[in-house]
Amino acid sequence: MAHNLLEGKRGIIFGALDENSIAWKVAERAKEEGAIFTLTNAPVALRKGDIFRLGEKTGAEVISADVTQVDDLENLLQESMKIMGGKIDFILHSVGMSPNVRKGLHYTELDYNYLQKTLDVSAISLHKVLQTAWNLDALNEWASVVALSYIAAQRTFSSYSDMAQAKAMLESIARSFGYHYGKRRKVRVNTVSQSPTITTAGQGVKGFNAFYTYANCMSPLGNASSDECAIYCISLFSDYSKMVTMQNLFHDGGYSSMGISDKLINDCFVCQGDCHEKKE
Ligand SMILES: NC(=O)c1ccc[n+]([C@@H]2O[C@H](COP(=O)([O-])OP(=O)(O)OC[C@H]3O[C@@H](n4cnc5c(N)ncnc54)[C@H](O)[C@@H]3O)[C@@H](O)[C@H]2O)c1
Repeated sequence: MAHNLLEGKRGIIFGALDENSIAWKVAERAKEEGAIFTLTNAPVALRKGDIFRLGEKTGAEVISADVTQVDDLENLLQESMKIMGGKIDFILHSVGMSPNVRKGLHYTELDYNYLQKTLDVSAISLHKVLQTAWNLDALNEWASVVALSYIAAQRTFSSYSDMAQAKAMLESIARSFGYHYGKRRKVRVNTVSQSPTITTAGQGVKGFNAFYTYANCMSPLGNASSDECAIYCISLFSDYSKMVTMQNLFHDGGYSSMGISDKLINDCFVCQGDCHEKKE
């Protein structure tokens, strides 16, 4: 059910690749809540083509931008303001990619050129978006910028590899830029730390099914879906969360506060914990 939470707001949504993308769900919800916005993704994603279907469905123009290229970002922000007739009220940064993960390189054998690419695409890009917006004075007062993160920023998930460093940096950039943009324009910058979610990026991580099921069995509310993530993002773009900034907000059904759950104890260990006793 829609509540016109974003009526009169203009946005930019990064990262809708296909129907499973979290950004795709956010775009559908933002439309339902009365926003106008542009969609953007890397040239390779535009060649895949699905994003244009989303554009038609939501009445949004699609603008190509590699999030690591400041020229592209300048063009994106300027074009978006021209198309929508004013400054921007919300931005979703839903972008992540690690060549080390893609190539299946073990964490102890990282390629450092790939590591730089991981950090540039998945973390420094948030700084580039914010700095470009700052230089163009493209954001309205009380605008809200949300980037998607994962709890591997704080804890070790063995196969998440260098994306863990990217997420830690992403959250740090949100805090640091959140201070400066808050002082200058009352702009809010937050990260949402989302449950494992079945998407192209998610499934690229080795052992994703185990991540997903483990988190689901651990969390009292179960994993948060991409639809649920979308409505949480909408609430952060809305005026109902005006004083929330510089936060990493866990959207994970309670997972981040758990140690172990009855479900895991009773159902999920083949050994029921006995393997430890046997070893001794
Ligand atoms: N899926 C999960 O389990 C999960 C959990 C927590 C956080 N996240 C985060 O959510 C965000 C969205 O991921 P998703 O799960 O919807 O997967 P997704 O694969 O649908 O989205 C990732 C997007 O990043 C875009 N991208 C990659 N390189 C780019 C570049 N150079 N320029 C512009 N765009 C680029 C891709 O084209 C794609 O649209 C990511 O930051 C991801 O790390 C995902």
